[in-house]
Amino acid sequence: MATPHISASEGQFAATCLLPGDPLRAKYIAETFLTDVECVTAVRNMLGYTGYFQGQRISVMGSGMGMPSCAIYATELVRYYGVQRLVRVGSCGAVQKELKLNDVLVANSASTDSNMNKVRFGGFDFAACASPRLVQSVLNFADQRRKALAVGQVFSTDSFYDSPHDQVERLQRMGVLAVEMEAAALYGIAASYQVQALTMLTVSDHLLTGEQLPSEARQNGFTEMVEFTLSALTG
Ligand code: HPA
Repeated sequence: MATPHISASEGQFAATCLLPGDPLRAKYIAETFLTDVECVTAVRNMLGYTGYFQGQRISVMGSGMGMPSCAIYATELVRYYGVQRLVRVGSCGAVQKELKLNDVLVANSASTDSNMNKVRFGGFDFAACASPRLVQSVLNFADQRRKALAVGQVFSTDSFYDSPHDQVERLQRMGVLAVEMEAAALYGIAASYQVQALTMLTVSDHLLTGEQLPSEARQNGFTEMVEFTLSALTG
């Protein structure tokens, strides 16, 4: 039952699928956190795995960068493989002073310069939101672990480069926490297929100061966030 972009057989994906942008991060997550892991798809090297985390069946698959790529994989996972919970795990550029490099952020909603949700929503502005139940799960777990999490809105952009010169200031004024490239489309897809979605992000760079995390610190922060997210969702 392959799709144009996924070669897995029916039933090879779990109900919950983590979606890092980078397929090698999917491999890393599978090898680091899952047991009895099987690689279930590798079309275009967009690796997908299914295994177990603390006894619960979990999948992880790369989404690629940007909303069109993420939307292809998310749609096929939901439509053809029965995935019920799409959980993006990625990085973002902060636009508020209070946020620091390596902070972890829960994107409870996502504004966007993409047209994808408008097309889906007949030209109107769709309020792209994470699933409240998933947000609540991670917040409850953060309380238990006494872990600080920032919760708020992000901006999902089509353009990593050459954004309008006043964009960061505008986002900051409107209370946006950070910029990334996938959440809004992911939330639109989840709404239209009536499944759940969540986006967890580490701050990899700061758009007010130009600071960036060195790659090792970036990897460590990401790994910690993934462990936290998996534990929160399966606890
Ligand atoms: N823009 C878009 N996506 C990102 C950024 C950024 O500055 N940082 C990490 N992901």
